[in-house]
Formats: sequence, structure tokens, C-alpha cells
Amino acid sequence: MAELNFDKVLASLKLRLNEIVDEAEFDDVLKEYTGKDSLLSVERKKLSTLSKDDKKTYGEKLNNVNNSITSNIKKAEQEFINKKYTSLENEENEDITIDWITRSGTHRHVISQVMDEVVEIFASIGYKVAFGPEVETSWHNFDALNTPDWHPARYESDTLYTDHNLETLLRTQTSTVQIRHMENNDPPVYIVAPGRVFRSDQLDATHSPVFHQLEGLAIDKNLKFTDLKGTLEYFVKQFFGENIETKFIPHFFPFTEPSAEVLVKWNNGEWLEILGCGMVDPNVLDHVGYSKEYQGFAWGVGIERLAMLKYQIDHIKNFYENDLRFLEQF
Ligand code: DAH
Repeated sequence: MAELNFDKVLASLKLRLNEIVDEAEFDDVLKEYTGKDSLLSVERKKLSTLSKDDKKTYGEKLNNVNNSITSNIKKAEQEFINKKYTSLENEENEDITIDWITRSGTHRHVISQVMDEVVEIFASIGYKVAFGPEVETSWHNFDALNTPDWHPARYESDTLYTDHNLETLLRTQTSTVQIRHMENNDPPVYIVAPGRVFRSDQLDATHSPVFHQLEGLAIDKNLKFTDLKGTLEYFVKQFFGENIETKFIPHFFPFTEPSAEVLVKWNNGEWLEILGCGMVDPNVLDHVGYSKEYQGFAWGVGIERLAMLKYQIDHIKNFYENDLRFLEQF
């Protein structure tokens, strides 16, 4: 009797199983190798023509082959499923928004870039950079800046204290660095102080409880409001372009007298406030022991506000969400 070459059948089954790309194919393969049109079935039909002994031995052989085909298929199916779920799990564990292999370069955050750009503009006209701490004394944040504790301007922002005696707080403005610098340096002074500030503000499209400012201070003999105006107009033109229109409107800050706000005219004709400024109040210069022959001007500008205007960003939260689709545009 010519027997089927079962080794060949099992070898072809192995090859077939290796080609499977979809779980559903395992049922097809089972049918193909054990179903009614399979070679195995054809062999089974021959059994009735065999002698009793041959029927028994060949019958047993066919059963064994059937069992090994079925168990090979089941085993391959289980492996296939395990592999599929392990790779799914691995994929889900990865941050799929980041393609680390192709993204090898990095760059500075847009806020740092704008901060650098502003610092560069003032550095180019002789200003030095100064820094101060983010946790400040109430003296530097308020009193020395002509804002004693009865002053209404103090209540607007003095909520983020770090002690029970209300003596230290997260600074609400970079104006603190003016005081620190003047306490430790004699005039003349030409500094800018970039940094992070903290307010008890609610997050909305243009406000965040943590944001960035750049403070400027110029103290010398004979500095006038026209020097302030010329300096800030120069800055605005360097930053936004020669054609930008600016205007100064009166305002109040405890530490400057007179005080002003600078507005720029935007594309849609709207005037938008970008910074506060003024001539340094003589009380502030008294607090740091500067003699009366010195006077000067100061300003504070919000970095997020500048970046939002320059790049037409509609919500301040974009800066802090760290979404690469946003960050990579700069
Ligand atoms: N510190 C002010 C603020 O946070 C901004 C400011 C206004 C700073 C006028 C100044 C200035 O130095 O002269 O709103």
C-alpha cells in the first residue's frame, strides 16, 4: 500500500503557518489540513479497502497525524496571539507622539527664544543682565518699591506667601531685581532682569498664575522721560518691525512717577498693552540710598504677551502644554 508522506505534509504545514498574517487564517488552515477535502480525509477513505491489520495500523497513524496537525495549528495560533498583544502593549507604553529615532535635534522653548531676543535687543544698547530669586522678601517685592502694606496695589497680588508672617512670597514681579541690584551696586545702572513671576490669577486666554517678565532699569544723571520713550520705542521697533506704531498712555505704578503703559497698534487696528513703565519714584531711590543727583526710568514687559502678539498665539496655555506640534513651529 502506498502511504502518504506525512513528513512532507507536516513540513508544508509549518511553512503555511509561518505565512499567516491574520488570526482568522488559522481556521482555514485547520480545514485545509484536516477537513473533508484534505489529503488526510482522502487517506481515511482508503481505510475501508484495507485488510483488518493494515486498517488498524494505518488508521492509528492517520489519527496521530491528525493530532499533530491540530496541535501544531493550535500552538502556532497561541504564539501568534501572544506576539500580537505583546507588541500592542509595547506600542501603548510608548509616547506615540514622539518619534525619537528621526527627531534627534532639540531647540529652545519659544518663551526662552523670545526672552533671549528681548535681552539681545537691550544688550545691544548697553544693558547688562541681572537676576534675582523667585522666592522674595515682602520688602523687595513691595515695601522697597513704594508699596507699603496699607497700599491697595498690594492686595491685588500678595497672596502667594511662603511663611505665616507674610515676610516671604513667590515674587509677583521682576521689579524686585531693581532693588536687589541697586542695594549692591552704585549708579549708573543699566540692567535688564529676565525671570519668572507668580500671581494669584486664574488661567484664561491671556493670564497664567506663572509667567515671565523682563524688567529694565536705567539710573544715571540727567535721564528724562524722553530717554525712556526713545529706549522703549527702539525696543518695540526692533522686536516687532520698523512699521509698528506705539503710544504711551498715563497709568499708575507705585514705584514710578509719572507712570505709563505702552500700547502697540495691531494688524486689526486694535491697540494692545505690552508693558508698564515710568520714571523711578524718588522714594525707591531713597530706599536703596542713592543720592538725589541720580534719577532714571524703569519698565516691565510680559514675555508671553510679546510672543502671543508676534506669533498670533490665541491662548497662553499653549506655552505650557508641551505639545510638540505647537513647540516645533518655533
Ligand atoms: N512690575 C509691573 C507689573 O508687574 C510692571 C512694571 C511697570 C515694571 C512699571 C516697571 C515699571 O519697572 O516701571 O505689572
